[in-house]
Amino acid sequence: MLSWLTFILKPLLAMLNVLSHPSIFLIGFMGAGKTELGQHLNQVLNRPFYDTDQVIEAEMGLSVASLFNTRGENWFRDQEAHTVELLTRLKSIILATGGGAILNSNNRDYLKTRGHVIYLKARIETLWDRIKDTGNTRPLLQDEHPFEKMKALLAMRAPLYEETAHTIIDTDSLTLEELGACVIHSLNSTTVETD
Ligand code: S3P
Repeated sequence: MLSWLTFILKPLLAMLNVLSHPSIFLIGFMGAGKTELGQHLNQVLNRPFYDTDQVIEAEMGLSVASLFNTRGENWFRDQEAHTVELLTRLKSIILATGGGAILNSNNRDYLKTRGHVIYLKARIETLWDRIKDTGNTRPLLQDEHPFEKMKALLAMRAPLYEETAHTIIDTDSLTLEELGACVIHSLNSTTVETD
């Protein structure tokens, strides 16, 4: 009985689990909480979690800020595109993307067609509150007027986040647990055709 369960039923259930649970791709501006939510969902759903920035940092042995400084933004965007292409092929994962990943149209297509995309939307004041004290970890905000820079970037990117998302969640007043519950609810109530 036990061997039947172990050798046939378990792999079958695991396969069904993968097939019936498309990957969850988290998108949104810097400070939207993609990494934190991804780590939370990793615990709750027991699915592998990846973060495009962390994968690039681990591969290169340098922080995103150092990579921007030494190699430049264009190099980083190419690396990011390569990472998004590879990671979105994985089934049934949770992926947090860098805030600028949606600038690339191939990235948007891969995200849209290979999983369930959730846009973590937040008001500019909320985003600012979360990132204003994070030092120099965000190279794009190393500016004389970081709040103004952020505002301009968000205005330009908002339509791209919206067109890429299958689900949009207003995160301003939600706790991490409430956010996790919203994601799970949206997965159960939306059907996304993936490649
Ligand atoms: C960026 C966001 C960052 C990181 C890089 C560029 C962006 O990731 O990829 O600094 O263009 O918005 P987070 O959104 O995780 O901060």
